[in-house]
Amino acid sequence: MTAPLPLLVLGKGRDLHTERGVECPGELPAASDPGLVERARAAKAALGDQVFVLGHHYQRDEVIEFADTTGDSFKLAREAAARPDAPYIVFCGVHFMAESADILTSDQQTVILPDLAAGCSMADMAAIAQVEDAWLDLQDAGVADVTVPVTYMNSSAAIKAFTGRHGGTICTSSNAKTALSWAFGERGDAQVAAGTGKVLFLPDQHLGRNTYVRDLGGRLDECVVFDPHRPMGGLTREQLRDARMILWRGHCSVHGRFSVEAVDAARREIPDVKVIVHPECRHEVVELADEVGSTEKIIKTIAAAPAGTSWVVGTELNLVRRLAQQFPEQRIAFLEKNVCYCSTMNRIDLPHLVWALESLVEGRVVNPIHVDPVVAGHARTALDQMLALPGETHKD
Ligand code: 13P
Ligand code: SF4
Repeated sequence: MTAPLPLLVLGKGRDLHTERGVECPGELPAASDPGLVERARAAKAALGDQVFVLGHHYQRDEVIEFADTTGDSFKLAREAAARPDAPYIVFCGVHFMAESADILTSDQQTVILPDLAAGCSMADMAAIAQVEDAWLDLQDAGVADVTVPVTYMNSSAAIKAFTGRHGGTICTSSNAKTALSWAFGERGDAQVAAGTGKVLFLPDQHLGRNTYVRDLGGRLDECVVFDPHRPMGGLTREQLRDARMILWRGHCSVHGRFSVEAVDAARREIPDVKVIVHPECRHEVVELADEVGSTEKIIKTIAAAPAGTSWVVGTELNLVRRLAQQFPEQRIAFLEKNVCYCSTMNRIDLPHLVWALESLVEGRVVNPIHVDPVVAGHARTALDQMLALPGETHKD
């Protein structure tokens, strides 16, 4: 019996289902209501320069169509900061991204998240009280003084503020290497520069581990995982003292599901296939991939590849489907058929976007995102540190 393909193959603007005829996981409903499309167009035209719509690459097609700019979380943070003249920023993404936009924009601007239920399961894996307790554990173990917090953008404003208060930086998947290099070597502390320093990486253990090992040449046995649900993170003082990377026990519920078996199957089934994955994937998967990068890097890599190249992509399905439609000259497959859309990214749909835009036309602001000013001040310190990282440009 032929082994079933674990891949959902996409291409030429349509879904090519697996040999077993498995349906697309999490298939979206039929195309958007044409009336809603018209209403979104009309509301946006009526608002003109009053509104700027940002769209993350994981958003639905029906929403991306109305984005003034699209990007990964780093690019969108910069775009938000670069729009001082737009009184309203409608953020089509998830809550932590909208919070960051609010922190980076002026008090005269309002950031709107069309559906407040658009959160992020990874960001929810680190609560501020847990992080404060963890820091006390590091103090208790005598290592807090030589530890720099490096916090992934996918975190609450409160944790970004914690990072700012402790001299750390925010990073995204496109600048994590630069951020870690800075934390280990360039922050200016004698101990950190002398190579005895540590990083507390929050909240995605996979991005932290992958960046440290793959990009900085660090060793896996220099990483420990801090479990906030166990006393002292489930670690001994010695383990904390010996570690260089203290990884928070958090992960992405979407990217954590891509498997080694799926990569192996892709290589068996598709001749000369190239595997490209997001660095939120597990280390074993990243180790097997040909390319690793942020959503922006994934798009740029596929766009620059010669026609006829075969790609298997390990990231969110909305983006992979769009890539398959935009580059029909490539063979583009989704890495794992059992992985579905990011359910929280998908909360932002056309009805919510229309509601947010039409409310603005009527003079009502729905779902504004306001970060507490004290929290925002400290979080801004950490975000500004990210934007000022040495040589920081948007490379990926
Ligand atoms: P990017 O930083 O690549 O945009 O990714 C954000 C994200 O949420 C990935 O799951
Ligand atoms: Fe969060 Fe994962 Fe969704 Fe990205 S894909 S927003 S990390 S749950």
